[in-house]
Amino acid sequence: MIRLYVNIDHVATIRQQRGTRYPDPVAAAVMCELAGADGITVHLREDRRHIQDRDVRVLRETVRGVLNLEMAATDEMLDIARQVKPDFCTLVPENRQERTTEGGLAVAPGGTLERVVHALVDAGIGVSLFIDPEPRVVEASARLGGVGTVELHTGDYCLAPPRSPEMLRQLQRLEMAARAAADAGLRLGAGHGLDYANLAPVAGLPGLEELNIGHGLVARAVLIGMHGAVEELRVIIDRQGG
Ligand code: PXP
Repeated sequence: MIRLYVNIDHVATIRQQRGTRYPDPVAAAVMCELAGADGITVHLREDRRHIQDRDVRVLRETVRGVLNLEMAATDEMLDIARQVKPDFCTLVPENRQERTTEGGLAVAPGGTLERVVHALVDAGIGVSLFIDPEPRVVEASARLGGVGTVELHTGDYCLAPPRSPEMLRQLQRLEMAARAAADAGLRLGAGHGLDYANLAPVAGLPGLEELNIGHGLVARAVLIGMHGAVEELRVIIDRQGG
């Protein structure tokens, strides 16, 4: 069964907008898990625009399933990860001006990324890399050593007009990268921009094990409630990947 990790950053976005104590992402995480999520994903950004250090610490104590900490490959974040010890870290590129993570990591040997990957592994923390869906980037990720999972960036697929030739092309790109991950012995995740309308083909990717979904889900939860929003996603995922 494909695991669903709900990204609750945007619950924190609403809180930070007014500097209140609510809505608390910790409460949202409890509801997501009660509704069938397998884990919780949070992105602690350098500028702390949504998730705060306190959230990550409290979630470590309260999340019953998997806690996935998304972070940039920096020494500051590495220190936090070593203290908090999430189940795994997803390393992402980060750019202060961006609204959300825009592209996948540049994966090359001998740099900061490789150093952070190995430091996390040494600390007993699993590592996932958020990458563009390209076989050569999948292979470069495997060559770093220590990487257990690659999360394929589904943003280009999600931006393509529904049922367009471009959407089909982007899906084929994801499929090729998925096969490369299997060949390289890496676990496969996917995420970014997924919602109720575009999710099914991605959930059907060969070998897919986990999905990270945030904005589309939180947007739906605002209208119909968190429980129903998670349940509806689960139905789509289980139909494809069951
Ligand atoms: N995966 C990664 C690595 C991300 O950075 C994000 C956005 O924070 C997501 C998944 C979730 O994307 P979305 O909020 O568009 O569902």
